[in-house]
Amino acid sequence: MKKNQTQTYYGSYLQLDKLLGAQSPKSLEIGNEAHEEMLFIIVHQAYELWFKQILHDLEFIKNIFTKNQILDEELSECTLKLERIHKIQGLLLAQIDVLETMTPMDFLEFRDLLIPASGFQSVQFREIEIGLGLNENQRPDLKQYNFMGRLNKEDQSNLKNLMEEKSLFSLIEKWLERTPFLKDQKFDFWSEYKAAVAKMLENDKAIIESNDTLEEEQKVSQLKNLEITEKTFEALLDESIHQQFVTDGKKKLSHTATQAALFILLYRHEPILSQPFRLLNGLMTLDSNFTTWRYRHAQLAKRMLGTKIGTGGSSGHKYLRATADRNKIFEDLNDLSTFLIPKSALPGLPQELKKKLNFYFSGN
Ligand code: HEM
Repeated sequence: MKKNQTQTYYGSYLQLDKLLGAQSPKSLEIGNEAHEEMLFIIVHQAYELWFKQILHDLEFIKNIFTKNQILDEELSECTLKLERIHKIQGLLLAQIDVLETMTPMDFLEFRDLLIPASGFQSVQFREIEIGLGLNENQRPDLKQYNFMGRLNKEDQSNLKNLMEEKSLFSLIEKWLERTPFLKDQKFDFWSEYKAAVAKMLENDKAIIESNDTLEEEQKVSQLKNLEITEKTFEALLDESIHQQFVTDGKKKLSHTATQAALFILLYRHEPILSQPFRLLNGLMTLDSNFTTWRYRHAQLAKRMLGTKIGTGGSSGHKYLRATADRNKIFEDLNDLSTFLIPKSALPGLPQELKKKLNFYFSGN
């Protein structure tokens, strides 16, 4: 590390003059200060600072995943960054509690001064969504709520450029598609998995049919439910059905990447797969945490506004609830839980492959 030539001073290093001079309540500006507006500004600013850190860490992860080959230590660094983002998400959630110490009546004191500004215009929030891989046609009622129209030309153009770049989702998809081990001369994961699933479902059917404690009607109903499960598995096992789901926007992850993700989740106890598993798990947590925040934020809007519209002109709580339901990025990974089978039913791995999946001490 190079030596520092000037003496560092706390306030100037952190540029506190700028940071602490950046709170200008609108109510004060018009000569009728609303005490709570300071809290409103500071909480939003703190959010934007944390968004900046999240983007910084996501950039780090994306840079690594842009490479064609990713080393184990790099994977581990990415997982650490993801785990940090989870902690930040915890802070983002907790800040809503702080904001809720402001009552809805207090908020009304300055709310109208904010129109038409709104969280709709948080460019960094959009950068996170787009950078992670949220599809634009995934957003609720695009025509009515198109956020782009609420941004200035420069922000619009920056976000459009970002949409052209590879998202974390697509980079992870490519990485999964490159997963080795799934097929060699002695082992074909997909056909072994298919056979294991067929055996499991046959077994489930036999259990229902031979269960004397069930009335005939109950048996028929349970067998019907089992048929639905079979159809769900069919949609995963048959590549063309899966591909149709992707085309229809019901699924995002390619069939090859889905197979690899399932392999990693099922055989996560094999040493080499533990890092990839932690990474996938980290992505699922990241997505769930944002969904939790979206629900919590929708509740906050309801508490503050009731059924009033937002300052950005949306239906408020209703719109925000819809984003919580729809704006998910790694949902396909979470959905893979449907296809997990008990460890005892897992196809055994050939010795050679088991060896490859183990760690080796390569010293003398
Ligand atoms: C009194 C507190 C708050 C209320 C009543 C509120 C309400 C709303 C409403 C109604 C919307 C929908 C757009 C609109 O019509 O304006 C919205 C969007 C948004 N708000 Fe808040 N909000 C509050 C605090 C916050 C805070 C502290 C943040 C942190 C940055 C935030 C971030 C966002 C974001 C990112 C959106 C866009 C969501 C999306 O389109 O998916 N909000 N907010």
